[in-house]
Amino acid sequence: MTASGKIHGQWSSRLAFIIAASGSAIGLGNIWKFPYLLGENGGGAFVLVYLACVLGIGLPIMMAETLLGRRGRQNPINTMATLAGQAGASRIWRYAGWLGVLAGFLILSYYSVIAGWSMAYLFKMAGGFIDGASTETARQAFQELKDAPDRQLIWHTLFMGATVVIVSRGVSDGIEKVTRLMMPGLLLMLLLLDIHAVRTEGFAEGMSFLFKVDFDKLTGESLLIAMGQAFFSLGLGMGSIMVYGSYLPAHVSIARSSAIVAGLDTAVALLAGIAIFPVVFTHHLEPGMGPGLIFETLPLAFVQMPGGTLFGTVFFILAFFAAITSAIALIEPAVAWLSENAGLSRQRASAYAGSACWLLGVGTVLSFNRGSDLTLAGRNFFEFIDFLTADIMLPAGGLLVAIFAGWVMKREHSEEELEMGAWYCYWRPLIRYLAPAAVVIIFLHAMGLL
Ligand code: TRP
Repeated sequence: MTASGKIHGQWSSRLAFIIAASGSAIGLGNIWKFPYLLGENGGGAFVLVYLACVLGIGLPIMMAETLLGRRGRQNPINTMATLAGQAGASRIWRYAGWLGVLAGFLILSYYSVIAGWSMAYLFKMAGGFIDGASTETARQAFQELKDAPDRQLIWHTLFMGATVVIVSRGVSDGIEKVTRLMMPGLLLMLLLLDIHAVRTEGFAEGMSFLFKVDFDKLTGESLLIAMGQAFFSLGLGMGSIMVYGSYLPAHVSIARSSAIVAGLDTAVALLAGIAIFPVVFTHHLEPGMGPGLIFETLPLAFVQMPGGTLFGTVFFILAFFAAITSAIALIEPAVAWLSENAGLSRQRASAYAGSACWLLGVGTVLSFNRGSDLTLAGRNFFEFIDFLTADIMLPAGGLLVAIFAGWVMKREHSEEELEMGAWYCYWRPLIRYLAPAAVVIIFLHAMGLL
């Protein structure tokens, strides 16, 4: 351990932490991934299972991850090593930190490609692409983008470059201020799209798709996907929130902040679903068409709206900001580790991590065109990385966090850090029994072992 004793910066206030953590949580996961997973997994029952996962597994683990971060005050790898030392446990625990750093890195490689699609759409919108857009032209435009590796590469490079520039300057004032401005803007745009959705013909059908619970449509795998999505959307299981927690001042209520962040994140995901599905049904599109869902439906929503070109452009600008505040959180653990342990400057650490991530992202770009035949476990490259991270690594990381906070760490320590008085008795069984058991059961069930 070299510079591991170093104490990082601190957020200026509880609000700053909530904003940064919401910036990490609210991202493409809410606007892009949640709607398309929902479409693929049959709607209502998936929403219900998702909500149960957020409450029963996500929230307690979010609190645990934040508390480990605040107590360890270093990058996730060192934090795990230090806290294990304090608890008299094996330093093998630091590999839980490693797992997280690696997961964030893998996720960002494809996240950047999808964020690149949003950037491409931003310019399409501004260029008046929606004038006269029909179901067919919207479908074609998206297909053309997927078929063009060069165009996707340019956007992927720009997005990764922007992430590296921001991260290399430190997650400071700049990003805090940008998020503070952009998050309310995103919410406003989403509400506007919701109002539009209410007035479409497919509204009733969309709402019943979203909220009518039909458990017959739920398979073991969709349970796993719902749980993976809860981890992904809340940004858990890889040290993002642990690093953010490490900048958290003492005596800020971890329980209350986590509940606010989880609540906001869930609200944004549901609002996105409500904005999108009525449009899907109005235009007789297929809800289960996968990752392209929002890129084909949103242009159709905007085309019918007065001022659609302007709103459409603004929407994709905001999607870009939502994505970049999450991208920063995804790469921060790797950068913090490289600069604290490998002795690199922050600039170098960001540039190295960003370049390696960029290279891996090329695999995702190609998986939509030339390399679409290349499959691993029945999945193309993008689908494989997504499955490996969201459905395996994040739940595994979350499980380790739960076991550590619930069983390895001394009770006095977690109690002291959480400062939640009598409420602690509710958190403790959740983190010791319910959350770990649920993760294991869902996992085994999906593998067909249970
Ligand atoms: N939560 C973000 C989203 O929904 C992505 C993200 C940020 C993330 N930090 C994370 C995902 C940590 C998994 C783990 O877009």
